Amino acid sequence: MKDLRDKVAVITGAASGIGLAMAERAATEGMRVVMADIEAERLGTESERLAASGANLLAVPCDVGDADSVCALERRAREHFGAVHLLCNNAGVSGGGKTWEIPLEEWRWILDVNMWSVIYGLHYFLPGMLSQGEPGHVVNTASIAGLMSVPDIAPYSLSKHAVVSLSEGLFSELRNEGGQIGVSVLCPSFVATQIHLAARNRALSDRYSERQRDEELEQAKVFETYLTELAMPVSKIGDLVFDAIRENHFYILTHKKGSLEHIERRMRGLRDNDPPHIAEPSAFPVEWK
Ligand SMILES: NC(=O)c1ccc[n+]([C@@H]2O[C@H](COP(=O)([O-])OP(=O)(O)OC[C@H]3O[C@@H](n4cnc5c(N)ncnc54)[C@H](O)[C@@H]3O)[C@@H](O)[C@H]2O)c1
Repeated sequence: MKDLRDKVAVITGAASGIGLAMAERAATEGMRVVMADIEAERLGTESERLAASGANLLAVPCDVGDADSVCALERRAREHFGAVHLLCNNAGVSGGGKTWEIPLEEWRWILDVNMWSVIYGLHYFLPGMLSQGEPGHVVNTASIAGLMSVPDIAPYSLSKHAVVSLSEGLFSELRNEGGQIGVSVLCPSFVATQIHLAARNRALSDRYSERQRDEELEQAKVFETYLTELAMPVSKIGDLVFDAIRENHFYILTHKKGSLEHIERRMRGLRDNDPPHIAEPSAFPVEWK
């Protein structure tokens, strides 16, 4: 998709981090932008900020883990702008623990937001994007955790492997439809965002109290220094993603060298019948320059 001016981008998880960086870049490219997020207040603040600098955009509160909410997002986008050319299925949350100890409710939350959201996005948006008969693109945000196996974050890792696999199959399906719609899968290692505070968006229930959530958020703060000092600045995301959209590149790795080392070790294990190559989150690649 070479020509972006005046085209319509829908970006989920657009109130923060990687999604916000994509929305900013889409607006800079002269695209009309639909920003969707579950955090209505932050969405309002960020969309007003971008609108004040001249962006033509629509902010839509949306829970991507809910099929009806994603269906309504597609309808709002089409009613408001008349078309959708770029779909960024980006919203995501993290969490984990020992596989057998993670409450089922937490598994469902992570898989709903990280995996089902992408299925809903493709299900509700692609028919319209295909029938427009114009060039378009889909960017699904996975993770380096979708290309290698990572202990202690099983629901996250599982969801991201699913997004990579879904995107790879989709690439071929869309090519068979004539190739007007491209697809990319974004696989970041550490990027400085609010992902470590994902629990802020987890709904409270009988089994998940406000106190538990506050404790988790407090514990997560230990990552803050790490994220600000070592992680890739989120401002780098725009170039990586929009170059891939223009050049129709499929894999987008933020930390290519380190990521490939892990992927190659995983594949060598497969070939040589070795135990699986495991990368602790602390061994995720941080070298991005
Ligand atoms: N930051 C990293 O290091 C990193 C690494 C690999 C992958 N990712 C992926 O990048 C994507 C973006 O995350 P980020 O790092 O920008 O984190 P972030 O927390 O800064 O942004 C995520 C956004 O998603 C929104 N969101 C959460 N649940 C939602 C829901 N149910 N419906 C709609 N919106 C929802 C949040 O409100 C937030 O605005 C995620 O899919 C994440 O898994 C991030």
